[in-house]
Order: sequence, then C-alpha cells, then structure tokens
Amino acid sequence: MAQTFESIMKYPAVDEELARKAMEGAVGVVREDLGKFTKKFPSSNSFDGFYEATENVEWTTGFWTGVIWLAYEYTRDEAFKEAAGIQVDSFLERIKNKIDVNHHDMGFLFSLSCVAAYKLTGSEKGKEAALLAADHLAERYREKGKFLQAWGNVGEASEYRLIIDCLLNLPILYWASETTGEKRYAQMAANHIRTAMKCVLREDDSTYHTYFIDMETGEPAYGVTHQGNRNNSAWARGQAWGIYGIALSCHYLKDESYIDLFVRVTDFFIRHLPEDLIPYWDFDFDTGSAEPRDSSAAAIAVCGMLEMVKYLDKARAAKYRDAAYRILYALIKECANTDTEKSDGLLLHGTYARDSRENTCTNRGVDECNTWGDYFYMEALTRVLSDWKMYW
Ligand code: GLY
Repeated sequence: MAQTFESIMKYPAVDEELARKAMEGAVGVVREDLGKFTKKFPSSNSFDGFYEATENVEWTTGFWTGVIWLAYEYTRDEAFKEAAGIQVDSFLERIKNKIDVNHHDMGFLFSLSCVAAYKLTGSEKGKEAALLAADHLAERYREKGKFLQAWGNVGEASEYRLIIDCLLNLPILYWASETTGEKRYAQMAANHIRTAMKCVLREDDSTYHTYFIDMETGEPAYGVTHQGNRNNSAWARGQAWGIYGIALSCHYLKDESYIDLFVRVTDFFIRHLPEDLIPYWDFDFDTGSAEPRDSSAAAIAVCGMLEMVKYLDKARAAKYRDAAYRILYALIKECANTDTEKSDGLLLHGTYARDSRENTCTNRGVDECNTWGDYFYMEALTRVLSDWKMYW
C-alpha cells in the first residue's frame, strides 16, 4: 500500500507515558544483560532470540556500549557507567592493536562507545581511542573520486566503492575536526557525502546500497546492491541510513541544501511503509508479503527524522516529528521485547541479511534482534524523553 503523511496521521503516536514505559522495559533488559555482556560483547544479531557472547570484533559492538551509555543517562546508575568504562578500555585496545578494523565502520564502533564516553564523562581513553579511529578512517579516503572506501584493502580495484551506510561513519570525522582543530577530517566527510549522494540517489528518490567509482577517472561508475533484494531495489536499512546520515551531516555542516535531500530520501521511506508501519527488509515487499521485516530500519529512520526536525521550518518539523512518533509507537507495540525468557534483545523482528538472487548475502539474523536495532530503538526513546545531546 502507498502511505502518505496524511494516512500516517491516522495511526496512534507515542507519548511521554508510553515512551517512559518502553524505556523502563528496555533498561530492565539491559540491566539483566550486563552480567553476560560487560567483558564480552553481544553478537551482531541474536540466535532464536538470544545473543551469543563475542570478543570485541565486527562492526557492531559499539551499539551495545551505546545502549549501556543510554541506560546510564536515563538512570544515572553507576553500574552502567562502570560497565561502559570497561568496554571503552576494550575499544582503546582494539584500535591500538588494529583488531578487525580494515573497513570504514569506525563511526559505528567508536562514536557510540568512545566519543560518548568523552562527552558524558570526559574520558581521556575514550578521546584517545576515538581520535585514533578517526585517523584510521581518514586513511580510507580516496582523493580519486573523493570518497571513503567501504571495504577491503584501500586502493584495491575490486573494492573501489562507497556504501550508503558510511554516512553514519562521518560524524566521528566531524567530531575529530572540532576536537583537534584540524579541518581535514571534516573536509573528507563533506566531500564523501557530496560524492555519495551524487551516486546513490536515484531519480525516484530510492537509493543504491553500494556504488563503484572508476579508479582511473574518479567518476561514478555503477551501483550494485550487497544486502538489498535487487541492484535496483531500495534496501530498507540503506534508505534509513540515508535519512539519518543526511540529518547528521546537516547538523555538522549547517548546509541547507541537505534539507531537500532529506525530504526526498525520507518521503520515499514513508511512502513505502506497509500497513503496520514496520518496513519489510526491502521495499520490493509490501503489506501481505511473507518476507521478513527489518525493525531496525524503522528505528534508524525515526532517529534521523527526530534529529532533522531541528533544522526544518516549523510546519515541516511538525510533519516529520508526527510521522516519527507514529512509527515509534508501532515499534513499541509490535517489536519491543517484553519477555526476557524469550529474548535478551530490545527490539524484535530485525533482519541483518537476507539471501536473494541478485545480492551477495546468505541469510543472517532473519527475524531476530540485532544490536543496532536495539541501539536506535533506545536512542529514539531517549530523543522523545529528553533534549538529548548526541554521541554522534
Ligand atoms: N552497515 C551494515 C548493515 O547495515 O548491515
């Protein structure tokens, strides 16, 4: 079904009471999980509802530390601060020893753990780790094409591409510029988003997941999907990364041209939501499909809209806030975990990756919790309940 901003208004919206109740529930789950996940981290996605304990590897461990920081902000309970502090030590070790960091996800990993630690507690270890991470990410910047290479060894021909997810890795570069006074980090980030949006945004306002750049000329070459259903479809989480990524760059660059991009990407997302407002993993699928949902895409989009309302005129801000509050209501009602016997995650019904004919994935974390879904769900609740100062 095609949604509109008018049709969305018929749904109930989250209010403070419901958000508080949902937050209390989420904090309760996080508290129970601390025993398992303080020295270890939860796996990227759950298995039959439960996370496995892992070392500090992959691109996803920062989300859990971010969840703990959000629980600390909400409760001011020192137990959360202590646990997050232990994890910050682990992140400093990780970046010093370059453990599983040959990729662009330094923002996902270090903004929510270490920049957060620095902003909330003045942690010098957090600052050191995050600056090392920003330097490491800066090494992935390719002058030929002016973008940050997502995966693989830098400069490798078969990996010369950007991906839309990287927009969430830019804030650590903006932050590094603010913190050190060195403009080069922010310049790379600004160049990257300009290149990325030129490449990934299609005429119908959907987005490519990944885009190859011609190594010789630096010109955009062609788009392909990695996690979407088809090369030309709109992977729901990719579209959501676009929404929040644009909002974050708008915040740091204070450039009003990002408003139009935000409206295009977000309106596509809203228009393609199914009847219950929880997106399927790809917008190829709609109400009635047996394909799985990706609740995390909705949570990311809500956070992006709630950030962007700060830079919009009053009427537009109200429109996107109203939409975000309705999607969050649906997430609380349909996806919030309320039974720790069945799951130790916060947000049910996410999909990490789904196998399709045109993508390069095998099924992973299908209809499961994932750590980023948990994080963005809790960030969304925090945004409703407070005038939140971002970790990004
Ligand atoms: N950034 C990887 C993903 O969204 O799955």
